[in-house]
This record gives sequence, structure tokens and C-alpha cells, in this order.
Amino acid sequence: MEQRISDLIILLAGGINQRRMYFDAHPKVRAFSEDFTIQLRKLLADDPDGAFSFGVFKGKFVRKGSFLVGPSIAGRSLIAFAEALGCGGFSFRLPVEPEDIITFFRLAASTKEPVANLKAARDLFAHEGIGHIQLANPYEEGDDGTYREGAADDSGTGTIDNDFTPLMAVYQALYEIVARNNAMALHSGGLDITDALTCGEDLVRTSSTGVLDVMQFIRYPDYDSYTIGHSVRVGALAVVIGRKLGLEEHLLTELATAGLLHDLGKGRIPEEILFKPGSLDADERRIMESHPALGAQLLLASGEATEIMVSAAWGHHIRMDGGGYPRMPEWHSPGFAAAIIHVCDVFEALTAARPYKDPIAPLQAYAIMLKDEGSYDPRILAALVEGLGLYPPGSAVLLTDGRRAVVTAVGDGLDRPRVRISHDSLGLPVEGDHGERLDLGVNDGLGVAEILVVGTG
Ligand SMILES: [Fe+2]
Ligand SMILES: [Fe+2]
Repeated sequence: MEQRISDLIILLAGGINQRRMYFDAHPKVRAFSEDFTIQLRKLLADDPDGAFSFGVFKGKFVRKGSFLVGPSIAGRSLIAFAEALGCGGFSFRLPVEPEDIITFFRLAASTKEPVANLKAARDLFAHEGIGHIQLANPYEEGDDGTYREGAADDSGTGTIDNDFTPLMAVYQALYEIVARNNAMALHSGGLDITDALTCGEDLVRTSSTGVLDVMQFIRYPDYDSYTIGHSVRVGALAVVIGRKLGLEEHLLTELATAGLLHDLGKGRIPEEILFKPGSLDADERRIMESHPALGAQLLLASGEATEIMVSAAWGHHIRMDGGGYPRMPEWHSPGFAAAIIHVCDVFEALTAARPYKDPIAPLQAYAIMLKDEGSYDPRILAALVEGLGLYPPGSAVLLTDGRRAVVTAVGDGLDRPRVRISHDSLGLPVEGDHGERLDLGVNDGLGVAEILVVGTG
């Protein structure tokens, strides 16, 4: 259920992003509006008079009193729209038609300046004929630490933070920069390397305080975005490895940025090939396998990309033994950045959920990668295992005393992370993020019995 809610919110945000690049009748804009309408009808099938509602508070989505973390990262465009309208969220009721949603996308894509007040915003919706998409009053924080719609048009002044609050803006920026550069790769060929580097810097700066959480946050319902979530996670993983290998700060920044931009060339691969469900024929494979070289060319042409970024984009599918693609002259070696991104790329793909596959637990992914001799630099693989541990942050685990917990950080031992209790021994959830925090490295009697989910996505 909550998954569906997240998917719907992300569809709205995705539609707004498409509408910023295209026009109302463009097939991509249409597809998002139709998808949203279908999903909404499904959601409200048992409750046709009900509404699909969510709040926006302090730059994040809120539902049933709590923040929705994943959508808040991917849904920046929708949050910005709510902020410009001065409303506390949106409510969609049936019958909503795809045309209404397209109008919603257009208003969101074109509203750059804040609307005078909430009444003016509601008038705007009524004037456009979408008055039945309702705008909530601004949200406030209740005494119990949850968030709800306020009675009047004043803005809430809550102060509660949770695990994710300090990093949310960073994650939103990461998502946006990858999406923007991918889109630019397709349209103009110009890139925004400077902003990407700033994001890479943020990734490095925050990695000591919990950037690994990025692994758990980002998931998307639409195909386009799989590349984006993948790239952000690859960037985050590259920082983990780079740190373990003792790279200097400026190299870490370049490496993080290289991770964010490594699949840029996919922006130029036709979608029929990129997202083909079955296996590719020889011609299709040749086109698909051109994405590293295309990416490297785009980066070179920008005139701003560094050697590390270009070589990582070019060489991230090359194996240590020289196999993979693109073909490499024998005298050449792919370079350390490409070798690191190669490891991150495969690990991310194995452990991520995709429409056609479930995620694989990290331990299993390590085993698969270790078995593939000659593919990875063993020092880099070791750095990944040491940096992430057996239970990467974000994983849900079952403790030996029957309680469930979420891993918050890699602990002192590979198998002894720091955790936050999420369910008591009866299986009852602990509200919000207030569960007890434990360091299994110093709690002798207690350990991890089983990994339940890798990340919350
Ligand atoms: Fe790739
Ligand atoms: Fe990749």
C-alpha cells in the first residue's frame, strides 16, 4: 500500500519533469498522466468516493504523520510546486482524467514564482478546470511529533528532525543533477559538470555522517529513473571504496562525480533497446555497448570533465583481465577510477530491485563477484566489503533476541553493525524513528540472526 502511494507521488514528479522538457501532447507527458490515472483508479477501487492525499512539509512529503523518504528525494519538482502554491499538499479524487493531470503537470512546470496566497492558488486550479484536485492547508507539527494539515493558512513551525532530515537536500540535489545531465545528454549535448562536481563534493562531505543511507532511499516506478537511482548509488559506493583505499579528498570528489555521470551515454541509447525486457540481438547489443564510449565523448566535448570522469565513463564495463567492452588495446589498462566504478556498477545492479528482479543480499552479491575471477581488482572488492560490511546501512535485520532493526551504520566488525530497533519482539512496529539505538559491536549477547530486506525499497 505505502509502496503504491510512493509510486503515485513519484509518477506526478516524473510527469512534471517530462513536461519541463516537452509539451502537453508529447507521448512521454501523456504516458505519465495515463499511468497516474490508472494507478489512482486502482488505489481507489474499493473506495471510489475517497481521495489520494499527501502533505508537503519542510521540503518533504508527509503521509499519516511521517515523512516519506524515498519520494522526497525523487520528487523535488512536486515539492517545489506545493511550495510555490503555498499549500500543504494535494488531494486527488475520482474522476480524474489524464487531461487533468497533464494540466497539473503544465501548471507545475510553468509556475516559477510563488503564487500570492493559497486562495489565489486554488483560484488558479479552478480557472484551469482542475478544482477537484484539492490543495491542502499548510501542514503543522502536532504535539506528538507527527505532521498534519493545519486548520488555517499559516505555515507550520515544527522542529522535529529524523535520521534523514539533514541529508535530504543533498539527496534531492544528487537526483536532480543526474536527471538533468542525462536529459542534456539526450537533447543538447551540453552538460553541467560544475554542478555535478558540487554534488560529488556534498556526497563526500556527508559520507562520514551517513551517506550510505542513499542505498536504501532511491527507487522509482518509471524506467527512466532506474538509471538515475543507479548512478547516485554508484557514486555513493565509489566514495565508500575510495575512502577505504585512502584516496585524497579531491580525488574522492572526482570519483563520486564520475559515479554520478558514468552512464551518461545511456541517454543516447534508444529506449526500445535500453529497456527491452528480453535479451538483445547482436545489433542491439552493439548499440547498447556503445554507451561507455558515447558517455566519454560527451564528457570530453564538455571541456570541463576531468580525466577521472572520462576514463570511468569509458572503462566501467571493462574487466580487470581486459574482457568486457569497449575493446581495449592490449597495452592499455582501464585505470583505477574505471576499475572502482566497475565494481560499484556490478554490486549496485546485483543488490538493487528492478521491475524484473528482486534484490540480492550483499553477502550473496559479494560471493557472486568473488567467484568471477579476473573481473575485479581484488583490492577494490575487499575495500567494498570492508566499507559496507555484511549488513549495509538501510538493511532490515532480525536480531537474535527476536526484535527487528534497521542498520544505521557499519560498526566495528563486518557482521556487527549499529542498528535502530524498528519492531519489538512481538513484531509490533516502533513509531517513527524513535526506536532504541544499539551498537552490536559492544552488545555481546546480541547479534544479527538474519537479513530481511536490503534497504527499505
Ligand atoms: Fe554502464
Ligand atoms: Fe552503470
